[in-house]
Amino acid sequence: MKKKSGLMTILLLTVVVLWVSACSNAASPAGASASSNGNDEVKALIDERCSVCHSASQVYRAHYDEARWSDVIDTMIERGAVVSEEEKARMIEWLLTQP
Ligand code: HEC
Repeated sequence: MKKKSGLMTILLLTVVVLWVSACSNAASPAGASASSNGNDEVKALIDERCSVCHSASQVYRAHYDEARWSDVIDTMIERGAVVSEEEKARMIEWLLTQP
């Protein structure tokens, strides 16, 4: 009898641990990605489009204001970067949030 209740306790603990970890797993990635997904998307876009001719760190190193970024990206587009108006706007928005 004693042995059996010990087993029940372990089973119950396992269930509780699984349940708690399932809950926190479900809660945290959803919460984290809601805010970081959009950011990662723009960063991936910059990594993809802006590292063709120079490294993307050239972009991350630069700290410009909105107007200057607009000029720089227009210059890059003249040089051959493939960036739509909408992508340009999202890049600038993201770049301005970078420290
Ligand atoms: C078709 C080639 C090409 C692509 C694609 C490109 N660049 Fe450039 N970029 C250059 C060249 C050439 C220079 C000047 C030489 C250097 O500094 O390496 C430069 C320099 C820069 C500089 C530093 C000089 C300055 O004027 O401030 C920044 C910042 C920059 N690029 C940002 C970007 C961004 C953002 C993108 C993506 C939207 C991008 N580049 C895509 C060719 C390109």
